[in-house]
Amino acid sequence: MSILVTGGAGYIGSHTVVELLNAGREVVIIDNFSNSKPEVLERIKQITGKDFKFYEIDYLNRKELEKVFEENEIEAVMNFAGYKAVGESVQNPLKYYNNNVSGAIGLLETMNKYNVKKFIFSSSATVYGEPEKIPITEDCKTGGTTNPYGTTKLFIEQILQDLYKSDETWDIAILRYFNPVGAHESGLIGEEPQGIPSNLMPYVVRVASGDLEQLSVFGNDYDTPDGTGVRDYIHVVDLAQGHIKALEKLEKEKTGIYTYNLGTGVGYSVLDMVKAFEEVTGKKVKYKIVERRPGDIAICYSNPQKAKIELGWQAIKTLKDMCKASWGYMQK
Ligand code: UD1
Repeated sequence: MSILVTGGAGYIGSHTVVELLNAGREVVIIDNFSNSKPEVLERIKQITGKDFKFYEIDYLNRKELEKVFEENEIEAVMNFAGYKAVGESVQNPLKYYNNNVSGAIGLLETMNKYNVKKFIFSSSATVYGEPEKIPITEDCKTGGTTNPYGTTKLFIEQILQDLYKSDETWDIAILRYFNPVGAHESGLIGEEPQGIPSNLMPYVVRVASGDLEQLSVFGNDYDTPDGTGVRDYIHVVDLAQGHIKALEKLEKEKTGIYTYNLGTGVGYSVLDMVKAFEEVTGKKVKYKIVERRPGDIAICYSNPQKAKIELGWQAIKTLKDMCKASWGYMQK
């Protein structure tokens, strides 16, 4: 039996495939390289010394997707084939709703047809909108997303809830990621944003490497210890391991729909990040304070207790580990 990983060549997908292979799982990847590169597949093999099956297809192509289910014995599906650029989603919402929402629906319909009912979904802390309380627990209200990307995550969560209500033989884990950063310790796989990065860590890396002149810190007048935005940065390898634990949970227990925060439970400010990065790399990260970025919130960090208790999972890597890994990948 295999685990089907859509978007398995992407940033979080590739790290999760490494963990799946290390755990002795058989893996089938589909990817259309819309935001990733074929080399990643070779690198996964290099890291793990293991092989997997690969299909270069767009998961929106129902006919080709069905072929994957015809040709393999799929036990569960992990869906990483989502677009994730917040700014682009505002410019081109239909592209996001089509790929993320229609893509997920097509995938679920195909799973249904082949009677594959275990589904692990990559959601985001963005579904909490302006958080009801900090630290955020899974029962906090969702909604009030500030961009189409976030809304696609919210919609898919709702679709999954409705699906389970209609048919309790589905077995679903919704994983709400906080801010994934870092890279594999080998330096062989990591995040490669196209163009100028909009997320903090990739931007910091490019400033430290001399590629970009300086970081713009979006506001220092928030109600936080140093005035800059606070987030729950989580190492992508910790995050990937969370998926393995979620899969084990679905396999172990009776069917259900489960939602988990995947975060560290610790919040760091933009300036904490800059400082940690400078300490770890010995590089200067030049920055200037600018206006707040529209749509940003002051503080967002998780209460990760539910995942700890129910999945036996906990993030263990520190902010410095994250900086070191991101820098290591950049240098390679
Ligand atoms: C963003 C998305 C979120 C998505 C996540 C993926 C928004 C509103 N949210 O979260 O939906 O799931 O990325 O990781 O865009 N910052 C700077 N200067 C920069 C970049 C960022 O000061 O050049 C600050 C931000 O104001 C924020 C923190 O760094 O306080 C983190 O920003 P970022 O990495 O973009 O993530 P989020 O905005 O938390």
